[in-house]
Amino acid sequence: MTKKITIAIDGFSSTGKSTIAKQLAKELGYIYVDTGAMYRAVTLYAMQQNYISETFFNSKELIADLDNISLSFTFNEQLGFAEMFLNNVNVEKEIRTIEVSKLVSKVATISDVRKKLVKEQQEMGKNKGIVMDGRDIGTVVFPNAELKLFMTASADKRATRRYKELLDRGDKVNYEEILLNVQERDRIDSTREDSPLTKADDAIEFDNSDMGLKEQFERIMSLVNARI
Ligand code: DC
Repeated sequence: MTKKITIAIDGFSSTGKSTIAKQLAKELGYIYVDTGAMYRAVTLYAMQQNYISETFFNSKELIADLDNISLSFTFNEQLGFAEMFLNNVNVEKEIRTIEVSKLVSKVATISDVRKKLVKEQQEMGKNKGIVMDGRDIGTVVFPNAELKLFMTASADKRATRRYKELLDRGDKVNYEEILLNVQERDRIDSTREDSPLTKADDAIEFDNSDMGLKEQFERIMSLVNARI
């Protein structure tokens, strides 16, 4: 008999957290939750309502409107992962654009936004058997997770991965813009007052700059197997 555990994966932008998290969830039959998608969906909502743009951010209006934001995930059999729905509309593609990437870290500094999303994340993971990735999973959302990973990789490797990902999707992208965005998001995410991105004391650090997916997966699975 194996026991169900909670796996928390945190780390900098574009370190391949979601790729490995999806693989782990598939292998273990666990739920996978991409918490970045939730912050992105709130950001998309704020953009749609004109609460935020590159030149202004009316956080008060967003806070007053938070109860009207309903977030949910629906598993897509074909894609093999859950897609993000904002007020019952599939926004999986819209939330990955560079426009959302440029604004999401600002929205993620707002404590009321974090409170709402952390509560929903804790509810999703209350029965364990979950792999969750983000920035504060091992420190705030599930401080008692049985396995905590902290992913890092060089900024250049991360920007290159993101660049290829967006190119593959058919987006028109500029490498320099992506590199700057990755660096700027890391800066804001690591220095914000509420739940800054930091490695939990008991998290295992994984620098995957020069590590293939297969090697990463095998190493992490052996950590998982020691805990289930
Ligand atoms: O994982 P991602 O790059 O899609 O996340 C987008 C942004 O959301 C990231 O720059 C910071 C924020 N975020 C956060 O503050 N806390 C989380 N648990 C997940 C994401």
